[in-house]
Amino acid sequence: MEIINFRDEYEEGWLRCRVLAYLHTSMYEDVETKKPTFEGRPSIELIAVENGEVVGILDMILDDETLKTTSLGEGLGAFLQVIAVHPDHQYKGIGQKLYEEAVTQLKSFNVTFVELYTRGDEPANNFYKKLGFEKRVEYYDVFGIEKGLRSPISIETKDGRIYAQDDKGQFCDYVITQGVYEAYTLEAIEKIEYDRYYPSIGYYKQL
Ligand SMILES: CC(C)(COP(=O)(O)OP(=O)(O)OC[C@H]1O[C@@H](n2cnc3c(N)ncnc32)[C@H](O)[C@@H]1OP(=O)(O)O)[C@@H](O)C(=O)NCCC(=O)NCCS
Repeated sequence: MEIINFRDEYEEGWLRCRVLAYLHTSMYEDVETKKPTFEGRPSIELIAVENGEVVGILDMILDDETLKTTSLGEGLGAFLQVIAVHPDHQYKGIGQKLYEEAVTQLKSFNVTFVELYTRGDEPANNFYKKLGFEKRVEYYDVFGIEKGLRSPISIETKDGRIYAQDDKGQFCDYVITQGVYEAYTLEAIEKIEYDRYYPSIGYYKQL
């Protein structure tokens, strides 16, 4: 296994690794179909490759004098946008090696901390704690619909068209079926008729 800088020829492997790594986590709905590019902004983009296969990925976007992505620390930082290891290769030290290589590369930039957000999954939270990250903030990602926003609707299909009517007899040509909210307190979650929600935890580490 070797850690190298990402190259375009590895994009398909990068996408497959990411989707498989997220599959059995609370972030399963978060799928990329193209590798994000950082449009000229300073970044660190690494992959772990074993026998030609991408088995791990890491992207960090770095603050500079013109644009700051981080918010948990003073001055310039690095925002860890993604770190993921292919499920067949997890718990073998690849995640840690990716992170260590990123920290080595960060030495040539003027940044003083790393920041990231993750949900409640145990492997990820243990991983960041083991690397020395401290929890700085917590909010919730809530999947559902704000209470009171939608009336019950009835639906009728006629001649290939859908006719939706609310409980006051008003026709609707669109309805919301599900939204994604960020709730900043536990009480706020109760204002949402939710299917599921997750903590979103902001971690910080001084370099
Ligand atoms: C989090 C993740 C990147 C860790 O990568 P990895 O290569 O499996 O981790 P490592 O082998 O380097 O393990 C380092 C530490 O992480 C923790 N850890 C990793 N996998 C774990 C698991 N399944 N259960 C509990 N702790 C785990 C442990 O503290 C471990 O240290 P230890 O070996 O001394 O116990 C990987 O599990 C993953 O891709 N998960 C799915 C995607 C994800 O959650 N990414 C983070 C998104 S923000």
